[in-house]
Amino acid sequence: MNSLNDIDYGTPRRESADTVTLEIDGISVTVPKGTSVMRAITEAGINVPKLCATDTLEAFGSCRVCLVEIEGRKGYPASCTTPAENGMRVKTQTTKLADIRRGMLELYISDHPLDCLTCPTNGNCELQDVAGLVGLREVRYGYKGENHLELKKDESNPYFTYDPSKCIVCNRCVRACEETQGTFALTINGRGFESRVAAGQNEAFMESECVSCGACVQACPTATLTEKTVIRIGQAEHSKITTCAYCGVGCGFKAEMKGSEVVRMVPWKDGKANHGHSCVKGRFAWGYATHKERMLKPMIRKKITDPWQEVSWEEAISYAASEFRRIQQQSGPDSIGGITSSRCTNEETYLVQKLVRAAFGNNNVDTCARVCHSPTGYGLKQTIGESAGTQTFDSVMKADVIMVIGANPVAAHPVFASQMKRRLRQGAKLIVVDPRTTDMVKGAHYQADYHLKLKPGTNVALISALAHVIVTEGLLDEAFVAERCEAQSFSDWKTFVSRPENSPEAMADITGVPADVLRGAARLYATGGNAAIYYGLGVTEHAQGSTMVMGIANLAMATGNIGREGVGVNPLRGQNNVQGSCDMGSFPHELPGYRHISDTATRSEFESRWGVKLNPEPGLRIPNMFEAALDGSFKGLYCQGEDIVQSDPNTQHVAEALSSMECIVVQDLFLNETAKYAHVFLPGSSFLEKDGTFTNAERRISRVRKVMPPKAGYSDWEVTQLLSNALGYPMSYAHPSEIMDEIASLTPTFHGVSFEKIDRMGSIQWPCNETAPEGTPIMHVDQFVRGKGKFVITKYVPSTEKVTQRFPLILTTGRVLSQYNVGAQTRRTENVQWHSEDRLEIHPHDAEERGIRQDDWVGIESRSGQTVLRATITENVQPGVVYTTFHFPESGANVITTDNSDWATNCPEYKVTSVQVMPVTQPSEWQREYQRFNQKQLELAKLETTDN
Ligand code: SF4
Ligand code: SF4
Ligand code: SF4
Ligand code: FES
Repeated sequence: MNSLNDIDYGTPRRESADTVTLEIDGISVTVPKGTSVMRAITEAGINVPKLCATDTLEAFGSCRVCLVEIEGRKGYPASCTTPAENGMRVKTQTTKLADIRRGMLELYISDHPLDCLTCPTNGNCELQDVAGLVGLREVRYGYKGENHLELKKDESNPYFTYDPSKCIVCNRCVRACEETQGTFALTINGRGFESRVAAGQNEAFMESECVSCGACVQACPTATLTEKTVIRIGQAEHSKITTCAYCGVGCGFKAEMKGSEVVRMVPWKDGKANHGHSCVKGRFAWGYATHKERMLKPMIRKKITDPWQEVSWEEAISYAASEFRRIQQQSGPDSIGGITSSRCTNEETYLVQKLVRAAFGNNNVDTCARVCHSPTGYGLKQTIGESAGTQTFDSVMKADVIMVIGANPVAAHPVFASQMKRRLRQGAKLIVVDPRTTDMVKGAHYQADYHLKLKPGTNVALISALAHVIVTEGLLDEAFVAERCEAQSFSDWKTFVSRPENSPEAMADITGVPADVLRGAARLYATGGNAAIYYGLGVTEHAQGSTMVMGIANLAMATGNIGREGVGVNPLRGQNNVQGSCDMGSFPHELPGYRHISDTATRSEFESRWGVKLNPEPGLRIPNMFEAALDGSFKGLYCQGEDIVQSDPNTQHVAEALSSMECIVVQDLFLNETAKYAHVFLPGSSFLEKDGTFTNAERRISRVRKVMPPKAGYSDWEVTQLLSNALGYPMSYAHPSEIMDEIASLTPTFHGVSFEKIDRMGSIQWPCNETAPEGTPIMHVDQFVRGKGKFVITKYVPSTEKVTQRFPLILTTGRVLSQYNVGAQTRRTENVQWHSEDRLEIHPHDAEERGIRQDDWVGIESRSGQTVLRATITENVQPGVVYTTFHFPESGANVITTDNSDWATNCPEYKVTSVQVMPVTQPSEWQREYQRFNQKQLELAKLETTDN
């Protein structure tokens, strides 16, 4: 249904250098060749009735209300399916057309409930609009004949209702599910009068393969498919464009509002990352923002065994500041630090690292990217010179071969996955590298040409073997390498990968991938045309994460698959602003724009702007903060929007470290797991409550806009500013745009960025500066950012986390569509209806050997700890491998993960943990302890209120 104030052109825009000019009701209009007459009519500013057409879907031509007269043509062609031609003379309004349209409408309305006044889409219904437009005044057939008015609603989906009595069988929902989403969950069941929309095998939406993306709801012109929030609240009265706060796709949304209440989130048609599409999280799972568990009052306590006391903002801030200063006086300037959040805006992240460097006076700042994509930053910087993906998402539409390594975009980056699947349906080839058979391997109308089902932890062996085939079979792009890359590092790399021990045959035992399959995949990647690599945490979260990232860059450079559309190296960033938090200088060794803190020139720029002397020594990374806490030298932490207790590996170790600290300040929406170890709690603000920007996985900076006042009184950036002022380092920004102006002035890749420009252009991809004032969609076009591309030797070093008799299985972790990370947000939405618990996936052989049946409770033990989950027996995992998600704190997935980490960046090796799995009858010791601790903390949070 039409979003507030959007023009629907009826059919999609066509791109063509050739144009045609035609006349519509006497008005001349010029459109790209291939444009429909309907779109030309709309562009001429004329409204032609339509029901089955909408500009996000290809024309279908079934409703016949869009008929027109075209001079010299017989009959009344449908304007939506007729291409505009040069010299055409079109009439949209004649007596005959009016009669036909009224006749069509009469038929529709005779089988439609006449409850317009109480209908939830009253005021935003295309059927109602068209009836008005054609001047329908009577229904000659009456309402007494056969009809569908008694059909039952399907309320199974938590977010939308299907009311078949209102369906006009326009097929828009079916096409949206196919063309836009790529799930193919809907059909029109039955024929003629009997025909009706059906999900799956004519089952309830929740029972079908529907993934609740909402594309059908958006496409439906009537109240048949309607958001439950619209049914409850009514139509919106204003809207604002903002950006999704879930994943790194960074979908643009129109927040449709009634006062300061969100009525619905409608994907923004002009959003350049999503083009009007979304997934279940962004469109529907925003209820956490108003969830009853939101903490809206600042709180303090001396010890974590004390009850929390509600205090005023002033008291909380001044207590935090005095504690930080006390600790520094007693234990030295380096005894405190901060953690920035990839869920917060660029401006907020920038302020936290500025606070640490300028007000704390050290570089003890780190971010959650430490535990996800820090190897991307390091690996890409080393090889091609910039710590970011090389492409736009749209670039995938020019790829001939798509290689997905250690990522499952269908679950984690769903809107991009829909675009990728569209390209696959057009015939692009697919290589999937994953230990599991994920939805990326096979889905509706696509299937991987190669699935390299490797053993967890053997990525580097696999990438070297792929390179071996490319080099030894002469599949290199020698000209590209000669022009663009370092000769010496290339020659060293070539010699290295050519060695027999890197051949697919020699590596097959290590990786578990048959040599002929690997050879086939290598040949396809190197010779199949434009080849693009997309990768995720299955690449980075390993002891050799950085090596693997460099191996990927090697492969792209060696085959010339970088520097133009359709190719490239593309990290699929997990959280909404993980790219931005890295860009903003969240790492202890880097100032904004990835410039090393030891660089005197860079430091002095910041020093003169910030008016302080900066410490040239890199500070502590998160794991080092924990170590230092345990040895007594690190005692204070400011943690904004990050739940380290749940998201970092080896939970018991983290909890021990935090328990030994003296002042932990947590700023968050909820009393998260980390807050249970905190001494000061500062309420956070959701993305709906603040202005700022997020940067997505394609370096796209998009605006986040405040649609409601901050529920606790302040946006997150304001709280950091208050803390800084209380610490005696003045900050006085009046608006986040001023923070961005400062970022832009200090960061060469952001020199041209401003809120005004983003507002004007919709979004901007950095680098955006004097040489690229409109931003940079594709990077490394003429040369690499570092000059010549550098090849790096990728020697495979097996993980120290080996399977043994005691721990014979490998546990790996991942995400499912409805869940987002540790679940702080999605656990507080109806999304839990899809997965209400974390489960352990185990292969039937491994299950049978251990006497494990479906749904049994199983104990999972590693050298770090033990937890208990229920088992799902599935062949999606290979024998020897088990898998779980980590959405619910009580599951304790990170109790089991070890503190092994990437050699270069300390990114934890989440993807490889040796475990034993056995049937059990009761929760683990840790789970029982967690329940006790959690219960106690909840009791302590039943808050004592002070007078102020
Ligand atoms: S919600 Fe999405 S997946 Fe489900 S039927 Fe509609 S379009 Fe298809
Ligand atoms: S459910 Fe809506 S979109 Fe689908 S056929 Fe019926 S009226 Fe059209
Ligand atoms: S794909 Fe990502 S950014 Fe887009 S709506 Fe879904 S969660 Fe939000
Ligand atoms: S809008 Fe053209 S036939 Fe339905």
